[in-house]
Amino acid sequence: MSKIQLNNPVLNGNEKKYLLQCIKSNWLSGSGSFVKKFEEKITKFTKAKYSTAIINGTSALQLAIRLVGCKPNDEIIVPTITFIAPINAVIYNFCHPIFMDSDNYFNIDENKCIDFILKETFYKNGNTYNKKTRKKISAIIVVHVWGNAANMVNLIKLCKQRNIKVIEDASESLGTFYKDRHKKQHTGLVGDIGCISFNTNKVITCGSGGMIITNNKNYYLQSRYLSTQAKNNEIYYIHNSTGYNFRLNNLNAAVGLAQIEKINFFLKKKKKLFNYYRKVINHNNFYLMDTPQYSLNNNWMNILKFSNKKILLNDLINLFQKNNVQVRPIWFLNHKQKMFRNYQNYNISNAQKLLKNSLCLPSGADLNDFHINKIIRLLNKI
Ligand SMILES: Cc1ncc(COP(=O)(O)O)c(C=O)c1O
Repeated sequence: MSKIQLNNPVLNGNEKKYLLQCIKSNWLSGSGSFVKKFEEKITKFTKAKYSTAIINGTSALQLAIRLVGCKPNDEIIVPTITFIAPINAVIYNFCHPIFMDSDNYFNIDENKCIDFILKETFYKNGNTYNKKTRKKISAIIVVHVWGNAANMVNLIKLCKQRNIKVIEDASESLGTFYKDRHKKQHTGLVGDIGCISFNTNKVITCGSGGMIITNNKNYYLQSRYLSTQAKNNEIYYIHNSTGYNFRLNNLNAAVGLAQIEKINFFLKKKKKLFNYYRKVINHNNFYLMDTPQYSLNNNWMNILKFSNKKILLNDLINLFQKNNVQVRPIWFLNHKQKMFRNYQNYNISNAQKLLKNSLCLPSGADLNDFHINKIIRLLNKI
């Protein structure tokens, strides 16, 4: 049996047909028709007002930080638990990260963020400043980790009062809606601007791709302008700003379109897998990460949790690896990465615990009962 992977893409829809259409039409660039169609589908599915297709999720984040008005030397609040991309995007903008702890759903700890803003910052002339560094705090990046919507209603209220823009990294949460008492909104649309990734391990893939979604028309217009080299005049090549070559191309969008056509199928498969894992992992030592009650979840990644001190993460990883099953620990904490150690962090404790007792389990829409039973048999050996 071949190796069981964490999140294999499933390409059994119109991918080949659309790619061939692309080649036959000789239209490969970002102005091809598949880019527009893909954007329209994402707009409809998320109920965003506007979507701009971008070359990948990391570049979408880099651009989003600029769009909301962050300037070099500003500070941006970020979670320590996340894939490194949003932190790198802060650095690409010459801004400084401030690292926050995580809650039990692996998301930025809303209460600690509020605590930090209330106790460690001051508000002057319409902006928020860090008491310690005296730098302006212009944004926060909320990452919806593993597809769990982050708790953020009270944080957003405070950020509005303090003129701190809320960027949502919804890279992993396509299909996850945040439930408030009154409404449900797609992740990425609760704050000011959202970014999605379509790399090969996500709910749907373009091979490589990203999207900026927003209800703000100005951010949308600027995202189109800046992602295509900030061209003011297309004939004479006049550029009045420094733009980027960040537009998604037609080939990647063709794959993305075929994939979004099957999103409900993928989400159903993922829900089924989550329910199955939850039912069968009833071992004394293990349990499956639950999903937050305010999150209509896409179940992108299933996380095994263990509380018995005798169980070591390394032993688990070795066991699965030996048996041809890909598993992985959660990301190493960002505030401890070599490049980021000198930036400020605030009361981080829970994230450290989560790192020690969590393991990402195979979660792809390609998995069947046979695969899952193999994984469960391995767990039962422990
Ligand atoms: C939370 C998060 N942010 C950003 C990214 C970056 O997306 P991409 O790989 O499309 O650049 C990813 C995925 O890789 C991610 O998981």
